[in-house]
Amino acid sequence: MGNCCCRREPSIYRVSSNAKSESPKDQSPSVKPRKEVKKLPSNPEEVESLRRDSAANPLIAFTFNELKQMTDNFRPDRMLGGGGFGSVYKGFITEGLREGLKPLPVAVKVHDGDNSHQGHREWLAEVIFLGQLSHPNLVKLIGYCCEGEHRVLIYEYMARGSVENNLFSRVLLPMPWSIRMKIAFGAAKGLAFLHEAEKPVIYRDFKTSNILLDQDYNVKLSDFGLAKDGPEGDKSHVSTRIMGTYGYAAPEYIMTGHLTPRSDVYSYGVVLLELLTGRKSLDKLRPAREQNLTDWALPLLKEKKKLLNIIDPRLEGDYPIKGVHKAAMLAYHCLNRNPKARPLMRDIVDSLEPLQVTGEVSDEKSTITVITAQGPVAEVKMKDDIKLY
Ligand SMILES: Nc1ncnc2c1ncn2[C@@H]1O[C@H](COP(=O)(O)OP(=O)(O)O)[C@@H](O)[C@H]1O
Ligand SMILES: [Mg+2]
Repeated sequence: MGNCCCRREPSIYRVSSNAKSESPKDQSPSVKPRKEVKKLPSNPEEVESLRRDSAANPLIAFTFNELKQMTDNFRPDRMLGGGGFGSVYKGFITEGLREGLKPLPVAVKVHDGDNSHQGHREWLAEVIFLGQLSHPNLVKLIGYCCEGEHRVLIYEYMARGSVENNLFSRVLLPMPWSIRMKIAFGAAKGLAFLHEAEKPVIYRDFKTSNILLDQDYNVKLSDFGLAKDGPEGDKSHVSTRIMGTYGYAAPEYIMTGHLTPRSDVYSYGVVLLELLTGRKSLDKLRPAREQNLTDWALPLLKEKKKLLNIIDPRLEGDYPIKGVHKAAMLAYHCLNRNPKARPLMRDIVDSLEPLQVTGEVSDEKSTITVITAQGPVAEVKMKDDIKLY
């Protein structure tokens, strides 16, 4: 959202500056790996049978005409976002659309036709992975459309949009500390689920624009276009083309193309840093030495005295100091250059659990209401770690 998409620009990065991208070489039709093109199922019957083979979620195959009805002909003011390979629109499954379908707000992601190979590949990855996986912290895929050149995905609608849109908004109120920790926790649970699945999955494009929020700030990971099966047997990594987002991708992955679950842990560390500082992973508008958030913040994370200077000033000091220190240390370990020294996602989930502020968090971010068996009794200023039971 709002970020340039490098696939349309000549780029020296094999990892894009904020969108899924391939190297220019990969984009040339003459060097497309022919065998792989053949391998990809490309008509509705092939897609449906491949999906059915291993699917846990029954998906609805929509017609393009139904999608037009759902989105008011892809009306521009229904656009929720856009990025790598297309645009996302808000839509509604209405009563009369098709017999048997319940009314529901949805998000409709249309893949551009002009990038057919990579667009189709990413579309298919989402159909397959989200067709197989089901978890409270993963977005629910409701259906798809594969008609002629059209490649579309239909997801549950997430009312508050992406973490990126909320965290860096100039118009919305700053997100309180408790919500930031809720996001960190939910996203960690989503990644831990992927890494621990029977057939482990590497998410590969973990960033704030791919983390979505519902009305109550529940977190769901979305955009599985780059997801990849993890290494099998005694293999330590999978070798891939280098794709992802510059500023989030792990250094060893950029250098070697070797992908492991620990690459996701690095990206997770970057997102945690963004939540702590309110700064974007890459920000060209900042002074040179502050443009890369990780380079700038990493040395400061361990220094207790300096740490508070880099916490998002929009929080106005309204955070538990111990909680900040713990979250900062967690980010520090995730960002270790040695992938083996990074924690596992499960350890991260366990470390974040005590940092959750339970109870009813007021909108004004500075107080929490203590609820007892007798009802709400007190409003407490959030100054330090507070645990409520
Ligand atoms: N289910 C959804 N509900 C609400 N907004 C969504 C949904 N899916 C995507 N979006 C919005 O569209 C943006 C791009 O979606 P994404 O799936 O990441 O597409 P891309 O492949 O273009 O990166 C997201 O950052 C978010 O703002
Ligand atoms: Mg995305």
